[in-house]
Amino acid sequence: MPKISFAEHSYDCLANETVLECLLRHNVEVPSSCHAGACQTCMMRVIEGTVPTSSQAGLKPTLIQQGYFLACICKPEQDITVVVAGEDVITKTSATLLEKTLLSEKICRLRFQCQQAFDFQAGQFVNLHRADGLVRSYSIASLPSENVIELHVELIPNGQMSHWLHKELQPGDSVALDGPHGECFYINDKPTQNLLLIGTGSGLAPLWGIARDALAQGHSGEIHLFHGSRGSDKIYLQSELKQLASKHSNFFYTGCVSGEETPGYTAGRANEVALQQHPKLDGWRVYLCGHPEMVNGTKKKAFLAGASFNEIYADPFTF
Ligand SMILES: Cc1cc2nc3c(=O)[nH]c(=O)nc-3n(C[C@H](O)[C@H](O)[C@H](O)COP(=O)(O)OP(=O)(O)OC[C@H]3O[C@@H](n4cnc5c(N)ncnc54)[C@H](O)[C@@H]3O)c2cc1C
Ligand code: FES
Repeated sequence: MPKISFAEHSYDCLANETVLECLLRHNVEVPSSCHAGACQTCMMRVIEGTVPTSSQAGLKPTLIQQGYFLACICKPEQDITVVVAGEDVITKTSATLLEKTLLSEKICRLRFQCQQAFDFQAGQFVNLHRADGLVRSYSIASLPSENVIELHVELIPNGQMSHWLHKELQPGDSVALDGPHGECFYINDKPTQNLLLIGTGSGLAPLWGIARDALAQGHSGEIHLFHGSRGSDKIYLQSELKQLASKHSNFFYTGCVSGEETPGYTAGRANEVALQQHPKLDGWRVYLCGHPEMVNGTKKKAFLAGASFNEIYADPFTF
């Protein structure tokens, strides 16, 4: 009889009983709705042991990789420890700024060293806490192997955190980070699949991490990265991206400027240029990061162009 450990208690699971049925039978309150594996309300995460793969049907590959499953269709075959999705154990660590570099007029790169072990995937995000309690989210541009947390921060007019990070925070100063959060990252489940990466402004941060992670893991499908902004003041890392393209024959980079025509850049919005060049996305995986309007609008368009909903990873930088 497998045992289910949840919130510091352990429950015996009867033969043929699901995790949800077992917890409800013991009067443990956990969210649920359809009890049929459709609504995902009962999503949990296994933190010890493994769950049958059938209990992960319909979940995004990045959720599956992190151990998420649906409690209402999960009949455990071994002892497991689980948490409700969203109540996972999140690491909070102090992080010291190692280096600050201006990458364009409006974007700076911050590299932090964490004081505690901090597991993450390139493309996930952290919440950055200032000592007075101000908190903002920033996406991780570095790979775990680089042993730093790299963030790209756009200077927002009158923006409290972005001004402070650009103008005041100095190497040697510390902040607190919690995370990692989000499911916008690369996993090597379909190495020949084509990937479309579209970002605006500092939305390049997660994509820079995801593209390099995919290449480092030997992804052999095509990887097309479109980065754009209204003006060239938020376009950055062009030479690094061009270098990456010259080193990897399956990586393609297009920098787009939608305002004034700018030599060296494709004219137009990154999302529109990308979908004009790739109007059929059947079988593709799509990553969208940056301005919420662009991300949410392009999500629908990518779906209409044939990308499966489960293959679209969207990270709107909501403010
Ligand atoms: C999941 C997630 C990931 C994110 N990743 C990044 C990242 O990698 N890099 C990054 O730079 N930002 C990122 N952001 C946005 C970031 O969290 C902050 O919202 C941003 O830095 C502005 O904070 P602020 O304190 O400077 O501005 P605030 O003081 O919060 O805002 C000042 C004013 O500017 C407006 N405003 C805020 N942001 C914008 C904007 N982008 N465009 C136009 N007006 C705006 C506000 O509505 C407000 O009126 C992310 C957000 C989310 C939710
Ligand atoms: S309750 Fe709907 S998927 Fe489990």
